[in-house]
Amino acid sequence: MKQDYKDKMSTGNAEVLERDVMKRIGLLIRPVRVSDYGKIRDFLLETKSLYPGIGYWWDNRVCSSMASGKRIVYVVDVDGCIEGLFIGKRGVSAKICTLRLRKSIRGQGVGSDLLSVGISHLIDPNTNQLYVTVSGAAEDGSRHFFESEGFKLKAVEPNRYNKGVEEFVYVREVERIE
Ligand SMILES: CC(C)(COP(=O)(O)OP(=O)(O)OC[C@H]1O[C@@H](n2cnc3c(N)ncnc32)[C@H](O)[C@@H]1OP(=O)(O)O)[C@@H](O)C(=O)NCCC(=O)NCCS
Repeated sequence: MKQDYKDKMSTGNAEVLERDVMKRIGLLIRPVRVSDYGKIRDFLLETKSLYPGIGYWWDNRVCSSMASGKRIVYVVDVDGCIEGLFIGKRGVSAKICTLRLRKSIRGQGVGSDLLSVGISHLIDPNTNQLYVTVSGAAEDGSRHFFESEGFKLKAVEPNRYNKGVEEFVYVREVERIE
Protein backbone atom coordinates (compact mmCIF):
# COMPACT_ATOMS: atom_id res chain seq x y z
CA MET A 1 0.00 0.00 0.00
CA LYS A 2 2.76 2.42 1.00
CA GLN A 3 4.75 1.52 -2.11
CA ASP A 4 1.76 2.26 -4.35
CA TYR A 5 1.36 5.66 -2.68
CA LYS A 6 5.07 6.35 -3.11
CA ASP A 7 4.88 5.38 -6.79
CA LYS A 8 2.11 7.90 -7.32
CA MET A 9 4.06 10.60 -5.52
CA SER A 10 7.18 9.88 -7.58
CA THR A 11 5.36 10.61 -10.85
CA GLY A 12 5.79 14.30 -10.02
CA ASN A 13 2.29 14.90 -11.38
CA ALA A 14 1.05 18.19 -9.88
CA GLU A 15 -2.52 16.92 -9.64
CA VAL A 16 -1.40 13.92 -7.64
CA LEU A 17 0.81 15.99 -5.38
CA GLU A 18 -1.97 18.49 -4.82
CA ARG A 19 -4.04 16.08 -2.78
CA ASP A 20 -1.37 14.59 -0.58
CA VAL A 21 -3.87 14.90 2.26
CA MET A 22 -5.44 11.74 0.85
CA LYS A 23 -3.43 8.60 1.46
CA ARG A 24 -5.90 5.92 0.51
CA ILE A 25 -4.68 3.83 -2.36
CA GLY A 26 -6.74 3.98 -5.53
CA LEU A 27 -8.66 6.93 -4.13
CA LEU A 28 -7.59 10.33 -5.27
CA ILE A 29 -8.93 13.81 -4.54
CA ARG A 30 -7.95 15.84 -7.58
CA PRO A 31 -9.05 18.85 -9.65
CA VAL A 32 -11.59 18.22 -12.40
CA ARG A 33 -10.46 17.40 -15.95
CA VAL A 34 -12.43 18.09 -19.13
CA SER A 35 -12.62 14.32 -19.69
CA ASP A 36 -14.64 14.04 -16.42
CA TYR A 37 -17.47 16.31 -17.56
CA GLY A 38 -19.81 13.59 -18.85
CA LYS A 39 -19.32 11.42 -15.75
CA ILE A 40 -19.91 14.41 -13.48
CA ARG A 41 -23.13 15.25 -15.31
CA ASP A 42 -24.34 11.68 -14.74
CA PHE A 43 -23.28 11.87 -11.07
CA LEU A 44 -25.24 15.10 -10.59
CA LEU A 45 -28.33 13.76 -12.34
CA GLU A 46 -28.57 11.12 -9.59
CA THR A 47 -29.94 13.95 -7.39
CA LYS A 48 -32.30 15.47 -9.94
CA SER A 49 -35.33 14.69 -7.77
CA LEU A 50 -33.89 17.08 -5.16
CA TYR A 51 -32.56 19.62 -7.68
CA PRO A 52 -34.69 19.49 -10.85
CA GLY A 53 -32.53 21.87 -12.91
CA ILE A 54 -29.20 20.30 -12.04
CA GLY A 55 -28.27 19.09 -15.55
CA TYR A 56 -28.95 22.54 -17.00
CA TRP A 57 -27.01 24.13 -14.10
CA TRP A 58 -23.95 21.96 -14.82
CA ASP A 59 -24.02 22.58 -18.59
CA ASN A 60 -24.75 26.29 -18.49
CA ARG A 61 -23.49 27.66 -15.20
CA VAL A 62 -20.73 25.47 -13.86
CA CYS A 63 -18.92 24.56 -17.08
CA SER A 64 -18.78 28.18 -18.22
CA SER A 65 -17.57 29.54 -14.88
CA MET A 66 -14.76 27.06 -14.24
CA ALA A 67 -12.46 28.62 -16.85
CA SER A 68 -12.67 32.04 -15.20
CA GLY A 69 -11.95 30.48 -11.81
CA LYS A 70 -15.29 31.59 -10.39
CA ARG A 71 -16.26 28.02 -9.68
CA ILE A 72 -13.90 25.27 -8.62
CA VAL A 73 -14.52 21.55 -8.94
CA TYR A 74 -12.74 18.64 -7.22
CA VAL A 75 -13.53 14.99 -7.65
CA VAL A 76 -12.91 11.80 -5.70
CA ASP A 77 -11.50 9.46 -8.31
CA VAL A 78 -11.57 5.76 -7.41
CA ASP A 79 -9.77 3.79 -10.09
CA GLY A 80 -11.06 6.14 -12.79
CA CYS A 81 -14.65 6.36 -11.51
CA ILE A 82 -16.05 9.56 -10.07
CA GLU A 83 -17.25 8.59 -6.58
CA GLY A 84 -17.39 12.02 -4.96
CA LEU A 85 -17.76 15.63 -6.01
CA PHE A 86 -17.12 19.11 -4.62
CA ILE A 87 -18.30 22.22 -6.46
CA GLY A 88 -17.71 25.64 -4.92
CA LYS A 89 -18.35 29.20 -5.99
CA ARG A 90 -15.90 31.90 -4.97
CA GLY A 91 -16.95 35.16 -3.33
CA VAL A 92 -16.94 37.23 -0.17
CA SER A 93 -19.55 34.72 0.88
CA ALA A 94 -18.25 31.56 -0.85
CA LYS A 95 -20.78 28.85 -1.58
CA ILE A 96 -20.35 25.12 -1.31
CA CYS A 97 -22.70 24.21 -4.14
CA THR A 98 -22.22 20.44 -4.10
CA LEU A 99 -20.57 18.01 -1.70
CA ARG A 100 -21.60 14.42 -2.21
CA LEU A 101 -20.03 10.98 -2.09
CA ARG A 102 -21.35 7.69 -3.36
CA LYS A 103 -22.43 5.43 -0.49
CA SER A 104 -19.53 3.01 -1.01
CA ILE A 105 -16.97 5.56 0.26
CA ARG A 106 -18.95 7.26 3.04
CA GLY A 107 -18.17 7.08 6.73
CA GLN A 108 -14.37 6.88 6.36
CA GLY A 109 -13.44 10.54 6.57
CA VAL A 110 -13.38 11.12 2.79
CA GLY A 111 -16.18 13.73 2.97
CA SER A 112 -14.23 15.66 5.55
CA ASP A 113 -11.04 15.49 3.44
CA LEU A 114 -12.86 16.51 0.25
CA LEU A 115 -14.42 19.47 2.06
CA SER A 116 -11.00 20.59 3.39
CA VAL A 117 -9.35 20.34 -0.04
CA GLY A 118 -12.28 22.14 -1.72
CA ILE A 119 -12.37 24.95 0.83
CA SER A 120 -8.60 25.45 0.68
CA HIS A 121 -8.94 26.22 -3.05
CA LEU A 122 -12.21 28.12 -2.74
CA ILE A 123 -11.35 30.86 -0.30
CA ASP A 124 -9.35 33.92 -1.22
CA PRO A 125 -8.30 36.98 0.83
CA ASN A 126 -11.75 38.54 0.38
CA THR A 127 -13.72 35.55 1.58
CA ASN A 128 -15.19 36.04 5.02
CA GLN A 129 -17.70 33.22 5.18
CA LEU A 130 -18.66 29.88 3.68
CA TYR A 131 -22.21 28.74 3.22
CA VAL A 132 -24.05 25.65 2.09
CA THR A 133 -27.70 24.75 1.79
CA VAL A 134 -28.88 21.25 2.66
CA SER A 135 -32.23 20.03 1.41
CA GLY A 136 -34.78 18.85 3.96
CA ALA A 137 -35.15 15.87 1.63
CA ALA A 138 -31.40 15.09 1.63
CA GLU A 139 -30.12 11.84 3.07
CA ASP A 140 -29.87 11.49 6.84
CA GLY A 141 -26.59 12.66 8.27
CA SER A 142 -25.89 15.53 5.87
CA ARG A 143 -26.83 18.20 8.37
CA HIS A 144 -24.89 16.46 11.16
CA PHE A 145 -21.88 16.34 8.87
CA PHE A 146 -21.84 20.11 8.29
CA GLU A 147 -22.48 20.78 12.00
CA SER A 148 -19.52 18.55 12.86
CA GLU A 149 -17.46 20.62 10.38
CA GLY A 150 -18.25 23.83 12.29
CA PHE A 151 -21.17 25.13 10.21
CA LYS A 152 -24.08 26.78 12.07
CA LEU A 153 -27.68 26.84 10.96
CA LYS A 154 -28.54 30.37 9.85
CA ALA A 155 -31.91 30.10 8.10
CA VAL A 156 -34.53 27.72 6.79
CA GLU A 157 -35.84 28.63 3.36
CA PRO A 158 -38.96 26.98 1.99
CA ASN A 159 -39.28 26.24 -1.74
CA ARG A 160 -35.74 27.35 -2.67
CA TYR A 161 -35.08 24.54 -5.16
CA ASN A 162 -38.17 22.37 -4.86
CA LYS A 163 -41.76 23.28 -4.05
CA GLY A 164 -42.76 22.13 -0.57
CA VAL A 165 -39.16 21.29 0.46
CA GLU A 166 -37.18 23.32 3.00
CA GLU A 167 -33.52 24.19 2.49
CA PHE A 168 -31.37 24.52 5.59
CA VAL A 169 -28.79 27.29 5.19
CA TYR A 170 -25.53 26.68 7.09
CA VAL A 171 -22.75 29.23 7.53
CA ARG A 172 -19.15 29.08 8.78
CA GLU A 173 -16.96 32.12 9.33
CA VAL A 174 -13.52 32.02 7.71
CA GLU A 175 -10.86 32.12 10.37
CA ARG A 176 -7.88 34.32 9.66
CA ILE A 177 -4.48 33.93 11.22
CA GLU A 178 -3.17 37.43 11.93
C1 LIG B 1 -22.45 14.25 3.93
C2 LIG B 1 -21.28 13.45 3.34
C3 LIG B 1 -20.51 14.32 2.33
C4 LIG B 1 -20.33 13.08 4.50
O1 LIG B 1 -19.19 12.37 3.99
P1 LIG B 1 -18.55 11.15 4.80
O2 LIG B 1 -17.25 10.81 4.17
O3 LIG B 1 -19.56 10.07 4.92
O4 LIG B 1 -18.32 11.82 6.23
P2 LIG B 1 -17.02 11.65 7.13
O5 LIG B 1 -16.74 10.19 7.27
O6 LIG B 1 -15.93 12.54 6.63
O7 LIG B 1 -17.59 12.17 8.52
C5 LIG B 1 -17.17 13.35 9.15
C6 LIG B 1 -18.09 13.62 10.34
O8 LIG B 1 -19.41 13.95 9.83
C7 LIG B 1 -20.41 13.40 10.68
N1 LIG B 1 -21.25 12.48 9.90
C8 LIG B 1 -21.00 12.00 8.65
N2 LIG B 1 -22.00 11.21 8.26
C9 LIG B 1 -22.91 11.19 9.26
C10 LIG B 1 -24.17 10.55 9.45
N3 LIG B 1 -24.72 9.77 8.49
N4 LIG B 1 -24.85 10.77 10.59
C11 LIG B 1 -24.34 11.57 11.56
N5 LIG B 1 -23.13 12.20 11.45
C12 LIG B 1 -22.44 12.01 10.31
C13 LIG B 1 -19.70 12.67 11.78
O9 LIG B 1 -19.64 13.54 12.89
C14 LIG B 1 -18.30 12.43 11.26
O10 LIG B 1 -17.40 12.47 12.32
P3 LIG B 1 -16.82 11.10 12.97
O11 LIG B 1 -15.82 10.59 11.95
O12 LIG B 1 -16.21 11.56 14.22
O13 LIG B 1 -17.98 10.19 13.14
C15 LIG B 1 -21.74 12.12 2.66
O14 LIG B 1 -22.34 11.29 3.62
C16 LIG B 1 -22.72 12.35 1.54
O15 LIG B 1 -22.30 12.49 0.41
N6 LIG B 1 -24.03 12.38 1.83
C17 LIG B 1 -25.06 12.52 0.81
C18 LIG B 1 -25.03 13.82 0.02
C19 LIG B 1 -25.50 15.01 0.74
O16 LIG B 1 -26.56 14.97 1.31
N7 LIG B 1 -24.67 16.11 0.71
C20 LIG B 1 -24.94 17.31 1.43
C21 LIG B 1 -25.72 18.36 0.67
S1 LIG B 1 -24.74 19.36 -0.43
